[in-house]
Amino acid sequence: MFNVLIVDYKEEDCPIEAAMLKQAGMTVTFEPNGTVENINAAGADAMALIAVFSPIPRAVFEALPNMRMISYPGIGVDIVDLDAARDHGVWVSNVPTANITEVATHTLAMALSLIRALPLYDRDMHDGVFDYEAHGLLRRPNTMTFGIAGLGNIGRIVAGYATTFFGRVVGYDPYVPAEAWPDGVERIDDLTGVLAVSDVFSLHMPLTDDNEGLIDAAALAAMKPGSYFINVSRGGLVEIDAVVVALDSGQLAGAGLDVFPQEPMTPGHAILSHPRAILSPHAAFFSTAADEELRRGSVDNITAWRDSGRPNYVVLEGR
Ligand SMILES: NC(=O)c1ccc[n+]([C@@H]2O[C@H](COP(=O)([O-])OP(=O)(O)OC[C@H]3O[C@@H](n4cnc5c(N)ncnc54)[C@H](O)[C@@H]3O)[C@@H](O)[C@H]2O)c1
Repeated sequence: MFNVLIVDYKEEDCPIEAAMLKQAGMTVTFEPNGTVENINAAGADAMALIAVFSPIPRAVFEALPNMRMISYPGIGVDIVDLDAARDHGVWVSNVPTANITEVATHTLAMALSLIRALPLYDRDMHDGVFDYEAHGLLRRPNTMTFGIAGLGNIGRIVAGYATTFFGRVVGYDPYVPAEAWPDGVERIDDLTGVLAVSDVFSLHMPLTDDNEGLIDAAALAAMKPGSYFINVSRGGLVEIDAVVVALDSGQLAGAGLDVFPQEPMTPGHAILSHPRAILSPHAAFFSTAADEELRRGSVDNITAWRDSGRPNYVVLEGR
């Protein structure tokens, strides 16, 4: 029997996946607590694995020789040790477009909320303060520059939305060839150049071994004084303590963060109570429609691979 292990969720969280897998003639096992030991114990018979939050390190590939495919119900597969997957010939798939408009909308919502001082006004109002001048002189977005690092599926939609509001949109992505560069985005060939001209700077790239901690104290110091920083990509791209320092010094006027180095973020961390940070709990992807498409897409990848030898969306080819 073809068994699928779903890690991080309980059976009652997954009616869509359970029904689809059953319909396809597969059995399903759930392991809500995705420690390596638990995954290895629950996955002994699994041919495929759906993992949502828990890291899938080399030890899992070594312990589960029957497991030939990992289906991630989202875009950024950084929870998976891709080198180990490659070494073991395990397929890795994702669902690349189900939530991209949600993430782009979240990005602009964070940027515009910060620029309009909405979180600060909102707190004032709840405290009985009625003063539109309480948070300094607000700036007009069409006099500002919006900078994007990573012009893939999400970065391109963000760029399109940003051109509606901002005077200038600039971007950095060394992997996009000139002929595929999006219209309306001024290309800048180094990250520091984008940081230096952006009034709002937003990250839209995957987390890899090469860019961990990319936005550190030096990168934040290269930004315009009083600018805004948005991260809806992955927490590991950013040194969160450096963001707090930059907010405290005024180098950053505000930060919008949906992703964190640990999720949930360490209780008591200074970012959680910073008045000029807008925070959300890795929610940028979320809408009812996106959630359903992600779940369906992750199962479709497994059935496609079982039936044709290839998932619909390949991150890494197996053998
Ligand atoms: N917060 C959320 O809920 C949420 C939801 C979906 C995706 N994400 C994150 O957003 C990321 C981007 O998603 P996407 O759909 O646009 O991915 P994508 O693969 O379509 O695009 C990523 C782009 O980043 C570029 N890139 C890679 N490394 C870079 C670097 N060092 N500097 C500049 N550019 C670089 C690539 O060339 C590519 O164009 C995902 O990898 C994921 O981590 C977060």
